[in-house]
Amino acid sequence: PPYRVGYIVGSISTGSINRRLSKALLKLAPEELVFTEIGIADLPLYSRDYDGDFPEVARDFKATIAAQQALLFVTPEYNRSVPGALKNAIDWASRPYGENVIARKATAVIGASPGPIGTAVAQQQLRSMLSFLQAPQMNAPEAYIHLTPGLIEDDGTVTNESTEAFLRGFMVSFFEYIERVLTVVPAPR
Ligand code: FNR
Repeated sequence: PPYRVGYIVGSISTGSINRRLSKALLKLAPEELVFTEIGIADLPLYSRDYDGDFPEVARDFKATIAAQQALLFVTPEYNRSVPGALKNAIDWASRPYGENVIARKATAVIGASPGPIGTAVAQQQLRSMLSFLQAPQMNAPEAYIHLTPGLIEDDGTVTNESTEAFLRGFMVSFFEYIERVLTVVPAPR
C-alpha cells in the first residue's frame, strides 16, 4: 500500500444516489486506498470507426484507468441492466482490440437503488462484462444497497449504524482483496 483505486459512478444524473453512495464509500474506506474518479459523462458514443484515432477524451479516460491498480464500480440499475453511459464507457475501455485497459485490474461492484432489488441484476450483468474483459473480481461480500430516503446524506454521511458498518466492511474487504490480487499467493497444497 497505498493502492490506487479508480472509481466509476455509473450514473451521470445530477442528484445521483449512486454518487452519494460513492462518497460514503470513500469516507469509510481504509486510508491505504487512494481514490481517483474516472468520469464517463463526456465520452461520445463508442464506434469502432474511432479505433484508428481515439478522441482525446477517450485517450485520457483510458490512461486514467491504466494508471490504477484497482477499479470500483458504483452503478444504478436501468431496466435490469447497467445504464448505457456505463456500458459505453466499458466499450471505450476495451478497445481498440488488444488494448483493453480493464484486464487484470482488481475490481469490485456495488450499487444503490430506491427499490429492494438493490441493483442485483445490473451487477450480475456488469460482472459478466468484467469476466469477459479478464478483470479479477471480489466475489464476496456482495452489496445491493436499497437506498431509502435519508439513509445517505448528500455529503456521503451514512445515517444508519448497521449500514455504515456494512459499507466500511465492504471497503475493508476490497482493500484485502486488492492486496491478494497484487501479491502472488501460492495456492495451498
Ligand atoms: C430506473 N430505475 C430502476 N431501478 C431498479 O432498481 N431497477 C431497474 O431496472 C430500474 N430501471 C430504471 C430505468 C431507467 C431508465 C431509469 C431512469 C430508472 C430507478 C433507478 O434505480 C433510480 O432512478 C435511481 O435513482 C438511479 O440511480 P442514480 O442515477 O440516482 O444514481
